Amino acid sequence: MAEPKKLFIKTYGCQMNVYDSERMAEAMGGAGYVETASADDADMILLNTCHIREKAAEKVYSELGRFKELKAARPDLKIGVAGCVAQAEGEEIMRRQPLVDLVVGPQSYHRLPELEARARGGEKALDTEFPEEDKFTRLKRRPQAKRGPTAFLTVQEGCDKFCAFCVVPYTRGAEVSRPVAQVLGEARDLVERGVREITLLGQNVNAYHGAAEGGDWSLARLIRELAGIDGLERIRFTTSHPNDMDDDLIAAHGDCAKLMPYLHLPVQSGSDRVLKAMNRKHTAEKYLRLIERIRAARPDILMSGDFIVGFPGETEADFADTMALVEAVRYGQCYSFKYSARPGTPAAERALVDADVASERLARLQALLTRQQREIQDEMVGCEVGVLFERKGRMPGQMAGKSDHLHAVYVEGANVAVGDLARVRITASGPNSLAGELV
Ligand code: SAH
Ligand code: SF4
Ligand code: F3S
Repeated sequence: MAEPKKLFIKTYGCQMNVYDSERMAEAMGGAGYVETASADDADMILLNTCHIREKAAEKVYSELGRFKELKAARPDLKIGVAGCVAQAEGEEIMRRQPLVDLVVGPQSYHRLPELEARARGGEKALDTEFPEEDKFTRLKRRPQAKRGPTAFLTVQEGCDKFCAFCVVPYTRGAEVSRPVAQVLGEARDLVERGVREITLLGQNVNAYHGAAEGGDWSLARLIRELAGIDGLERIRFTTSHPNDMDDDLIAAHGDCAKLMPYLHLPVQSGSDRVLKAMNRKHTAEKYLRLIERIRAARPDILMSGDFIVGFPGETEADFADTMALVEAVRYGQCYSFKYSARPGTPAAERALVDADVASERLARLQALLTRQQREIQDEMVGCEVGVLFERKGRMPGQMAGKSDHLHAVYVEGANVAVGDLARVRITASGPNSLAGELV
C-alpha cells in the first residue's frame, strides 16, 4: 500500500470552521491523507479562512506568502484555501497569490477529494458554488476513531438576517438546517466515540428548524431529544440571535439539566439608533427584557455577547448607551471589535467614525467588560461547580477542564482523568481561569 500523504490544516475564524476542518480532514482520509501538525512535511496545506474583519482576511495572504520557500523546495506540495475568504474572493486568490492550487468554498467541502485530484493533475481547481446536494451527507466520516470528551456539531449554516456590517450571508449563503435524523445520528456516533459534551453550532443556531417526520423541529425540541442520549452529559449551543430566542428554548434553560448555564447572545450595540442602522431588527430594551426572562428560567446563567464599536454614524451618546447596556446586563465573558468595513455589505458605503475615536471607545468598553468578567469570576470562589476535564495542565499533576459556566478550571494533584466529570470547589480566581479542588 502507498505511504499516506500528509495534510496540514490551519483554521481561522469561528467554531464552524473548526468543525469544518475536522470534517475536511476526515474526507481527505478517504483520499489517502493523514493529518500532520506541521506545514514543513505536508503534501498538502489547507488554510480554512475567515472573512469577518479585514485583519482576519489579510492574515491569509501573509500566511500564504510564508509557504513560498516550502513550495520551491517541494514542487509537489499543493496549497489550498477553504472557508469564507475562499467563498468571498474565489479566483482572485489565485491571481493575488499564484502559489495557490485549489480554492474551495464552505458549501463544497464534499468535493474536496475531487478538487485535490484535479490540482495534482496540474489544474488550478476552484469550487465556490452553493450546490444543491447536501455536503453533510456526502462528507465521509472516519468511523470508530476515538476522540476527546468535547465536540462541535454543526446543525445550521448560513444566515438570512443581513446585518448591515456582516459578510456571513454572502460567504455561507442562505440559512439551512440539517435534518433532525442526521443530527441525532451524528450525536450518537460522537458519544460512542467518547464525547460527553456537544456544542451545537450555527451562525444563527437558535433559528434551527430541522426537518423531521411530522414537521420541523425547533432547537429546543432537538436539545430535549439529545438530552435523552445516555453518556451525553452536557449540551451547549452557539451563536444565537436575540430575535430567535423562543419561549421553549428559554424554558429548556430552566428544565433541561444537561443544557449548560451559558448563553452567547450578541447584541452589537446598546443604541437603538445604531441597532436600526445595523439592521438588527431589535431594540436595546427588547434585548434586556429577553435576558430578564432567560434569567427567570435559569438565575445563574452566564451571559456572553459580541459588540461592534465605531459603527458608521455612532456618536458618543450612542456609545454611552452601549456602556449602559453592558452595566445593566453584567456579562461573564464577551467579544468586542472595532468596526471593519467589509466589501459588498451595505455599511461599507457609509462614512467611518474616526479611527482614534473608535479605538478609544473600544478600550473603554473592554475595560468595563474585563472588570465584569473578573467580578463574576471572583464571585465563583467558594462555589461548587461541575467540571469536565479536557486535558492535562502545564504543571505536573495539574488537570484542566471547563465548568458548567464555561470557565477554564485547573485542579492540582487530583485523581481525575481526561473525560471525567466531577464536582469542584473553586478556591481562587485568576485573570482568565479559576483554580479549585475536588469535592
Ligand atoms: N451570527 C452571529 C455573529 C457572527 S460574526 C450573530 O448574529 O451575532 C461574529 C461577530 O463578529 C459578530 O457578532 C460581530 O460582533 C463581529 N463582526 C461581524 N462583522 C463585523 C465587522 N464588519 N466589523 C467588526 N466586527 C464584526
Ligand atoms: Fe452576520 Fe449574525 Fe447578522 Fe447573520 S445575524 S448577518 S451572521 S451578524
Ligand atoms: Fe469567519 Fe466565516 Fe466564521 S467569516 S466568523 S469563518 S462564518
